[in-house]
Amino acid sequence: MQTEKLCKEIKEKIENVTNLKSLNDLKIEYTGKKGIITELQNGIKDATDKKEYGIMLNTIRKTFNELFEEKLNKLNEEELNKKLESEKIDVTLPSKKIRVGSKHPMTRTLEELEDLFVSMGFDVYDGPEIESDENCFQKLNLPLGHPARDAQDTFYLENEYEKYLLRSQTSTGQVRVMEANKEKGPIRVVCPGKVYRRDDDATHSHQFMQMEGLVIDENISMADLKGTLETFCKKLLGEKTDVRFRPSFFPFTEPSVEVDATCFKCGGKGCSLCKGTGWIEVLGAGMVHPNVLKMSGYDPEKYQGFAFGTGLDRFTMFKYGITDIRTLYGNDMRFLNQFTRGDEDR
Ligand code: DAH
Repeated sequence: MQTEKLCKEIKEKIENVTNLKSLNDLKIEYTGKKGIITELQNGIKDATDKKEYGIMLNTIRKTFNELFEEKLNKLNEEELNKKLESEKIDVTLPSKKIRVGSKHPMTRTLEELEDLFVSMGFDVYDGPEIESDENCFQKLNLPLGHPARDAQDTFYLENEYEKYLLRSQTSTGQVRVMEANKEKGPIRVVCPGKVYRRDDDATHSHQFMQMEGLVIDENISMADLKGTLETFCKKLLGEKTDVRFRPSFFPFTEPSVEVDATCFKCGGKGCSLCKGTGWIEVLGAGMVHPNVLKMSGYDPEKYQGFAFGTGLDRFTMFKYGITDIRTLYGNDMRFLNQFTRGDEDR
């Protein structure tokens, strides 16, 4: 009778349980250290009929364990179903559009030029945009007060000890690479990067990109400069491109030249892009001035060099038919979205 009553009680209690915690409490209540079943078990030593007592105990324990297991599985399953329900994914919902970025047109031009010069054996040097007056001007043969500084007026950052500025030309790379070369041996390097000037109109931006080139070695002549720049222009603008050299002036080169290429739009016949001349100016260049070599520790009796500087913005504008340089730096998505991944390698 006691067995039946107890089993009924167990069944009812387990049936009424609705969560795992209460089920666990029941387990303690019956099988814990001071649990009902445990106490019964301890009572076996005083039982008159130990066999019958043992059978009774087994029935109760078995009933409890079975009902407990059953309920435990049921509650676990319910919990899992609840979770699955709440985390259900509706595969029929419309998907979010994945936005795929692409390289900025300036980056494309930069990488194209870098690849070209690396293929000709040049290294790439990336210098800082904040520069000293010394590196940007003085060591390039533009002492304080030199009138050629006017064309490169830039943004100045005053410092108690030294005058810093945003570099107005990547020619600063020449100074940095020559000074870093402790053996004062040969150099073949291009220095691309952002430069800054006090400019702002459709063809001039306060920030733009240049690439400087510097070659220093023994027995370097104007012929090396011509050959390198001709190869550069033909590779970049097409094999049919003609190149001409006009005498010019830059304080850091002597002699200096400006390099024109046949207009890539009309092929030299004359059009609106080249203003009817058939030529487009693409580079400034020259033989490195002996003063520049000397100021950075090179012996001009032993070494000669040539240097060149070109603007990447103009190449990019011509290539993609961009008419206002400022759109290159405006971060306007309507402009940027026109350059998709598909045409990156074209
Ligand atoms: N730094 C010059 C500029 O920004 C460009 C230039 C001209 C660089 C002649 C050179 C060079 O290395 O030889 O206008």
